[in-house]
Amino acid sequence: MSDKKAQLTIGSDSYEFPVMQGSTGPDVIDIRKLYGQTGAFTFDPGYKSTASCESSLTYIDGDEGVLLHRGYPIGQLAEHSSFMEVSYLLLNGELPSKDELDTFEDTITRHTMLHEQLSQFYRGFRRDAHPMAVMCGVVGALSAFYHDSTDISDPMQRRIASHRLIAKMPTIAAMAYKYSIGQPFVYPDNSLSYTGNFLKMTFSVPAEPYEVLPAVEKAMDRIFILHADHEQNASTSTVRLAGSSGANPFACIAAGIACLWGPAHGGANEACLNMLREIGTPERIPHYIERAKDKNDPFRLMGFGHRVYKNYDPRATVMQKTVREVFEALNVNDPIFEVALRLEELALEDDYFKEKKLFPNVDFYSGAILSAIGFPTTMFTALFALARTVGWVAQWNEMISDPGQVIGRPRQLYTGPTQRDYVPIDQR
Ligand code: CMC
Repeated sequence: MSDKKAQLTIGSDSYEFPVMQGSTGPDVIDIRKLYGQTGAFTFDPGYKSTASCESSLTYIDGDEGVLLHRGYPIGQLAEHSSFMEVSYLLLNGELPSKDELDTFEDTITRHTMLHEQLSQFYRGFRRDAHPMAVMCGVVGALSAFYHDSTDISDPMQRRIASHRLIAKMPTIAAMAYKYSIGQPFVYPDNSLSYTGNFLKMTFSVPAEPYEVLPAVEKAMDRIFILHADHEQNASTSTVRLAGSSGANPFACIAAGIACLWGPAHGGANEACLNMLREIGTPERIPHYIERAKDKNDPFRLMGFGHRVYKNYDPRATVMQKTVREVFEALNVNDPIFEVALRLEELALEDDYFKEKKLFPNVDFYSGAILSAIGFPTTMFTALFALARTVGWVAQWNEMISDPGQVIGRPRQLYTGPTQRDYVPIDQR
C-alpha cells in the first residue's frame, strides 16, 4: 500500500480510497470497500481497468511489448531455457538448480500415463469431434479418476494434482489426435523429454520406429514456453473464478480449456491459419485488409491485435524467427509464410492498424510452424491448452494458497423490469 489516496466524488459526497502499488506496473485503486461506503458498484464488463487479483507470476507491459515470467523476459527464456525449466519457474518462483530440475522432470515423467479406463472415454466421442471438445471432456473427467488429489485444502494433494495435469496433458492431447485419425493410442515413452515424448505419442505408429527430430523438438518446446502463462487472460481468469468456489483442480482446468477454445482467445491460431490459407497469395491481401477495416464486415485479421499489447507481442517476434528455423530444418516451402510476412508488412503500414495499435500477436505465426510440423489446424488450440496448463495450475495454486482468498462474485448493472406482480396465463 502506498501513501497515495484516490478521491471519489459522487454528487456532493467525497470518499477516499487507498492506492496499492505493485513491484512495477500501474497503481491500483483499492475499491473493496466502495459498495459498503457509497452504495455504488463499478462498471467494467471486459475488465479493461480492473485488477482482479494480486499475482507475482507474470508481468506484461503492453505499451512496451514486454512479457516477464517471475521477472525473466520471455525472449531470454525462449532462447536459453526449456519448457520444463519454465514450468518449474512458474510453479516455484525461482529457476531450478540442476538437481531441482532433474527431480522435477523425473516427477513429471512419472505421471505421464493415463488411467487405462480413460481410453474408454475417448471411444465415446465421434471420430470427427474437435480435439478441444475431447480435451474439455477428458480433463474434466480426470477428477473422477484421481480422487486422491482433489482435496484442495491439502498442499500435497494440490502439488500432486498440478504435476498430474502438466504431465498428462501431452498424453491427453496426443490421444485426442490419434483418435481423430483412427490410429492406435501410443503410450508415453519416459526415456524422452517432455516435448519429445509428446511428438512421439502424436506422430509415431506402433508398426514403425520413430525418431524425434531435434529441430522440431526444440521448436515445439519453444512454442510451449511462449504459451506457458500470460497473466490474467480470459482462460486464466476462468480457472481462477472456477477455483474460487473450491472446485477441484481438474474441473477448474477443464473450465479454462473451454474458455481458451474461443476464436478471440486460443482459437485464434486455428482461425489465423485458416485465414492465411483462404487469402492464399500476396495479391489478395489488400482485399482482406479492406474487409478487416470495414465496420459492416465482421471479418477481423486473426492473429492481430491484443487487449494488453499495444506494441509488437514479444512472443510473435520469437515465433517469426522459429518459422524460418523450422521451415529450413524440414525443408518446407509453404507459401503461407510469405503471405503472413506480407500481410504483416501491409497491415503495419496501414493507418487503421497504426492508429488502433494493432500488431501481430502470438497466434500470427504459430500456425505456420505447427502446420509444417504436421499438426492439423484443429490441434492448434489443443497445443495451446497443453502449454498453458502450467500457467493455469500455477495461478490456481497461487490463489488457493492466499489466506485472503474469497469466492469471485461480480455484481451487475441491472436493466430489467423492476418488481411486478405475476399475471395468470389467461389474463396475459
Ligand atoms: N482486425 C481488425 N480490427 C481489429 C482487430 C483485428 N484483428 N482487433 C481489434 N480491431 C479493432 C476493433 O474493431 C476496434 O475498433 P473500434 O475501436 O473502431 O471499434 C479496436 O480495434 C479495438 O478492438 P477491441 O475488440 O475493442 O479490442 P479488445 O481488446 O477487446 O480485443 C482482441 C482484443 C484480441 C480480441 C482483438 O484484437 C481480436 O479480435 N483479434 C483477433 C483475434 C486474435 O488474434 N486473438 C488472439 C489474441 S492473442 C492470444 C490469446 O490471447 O489467446
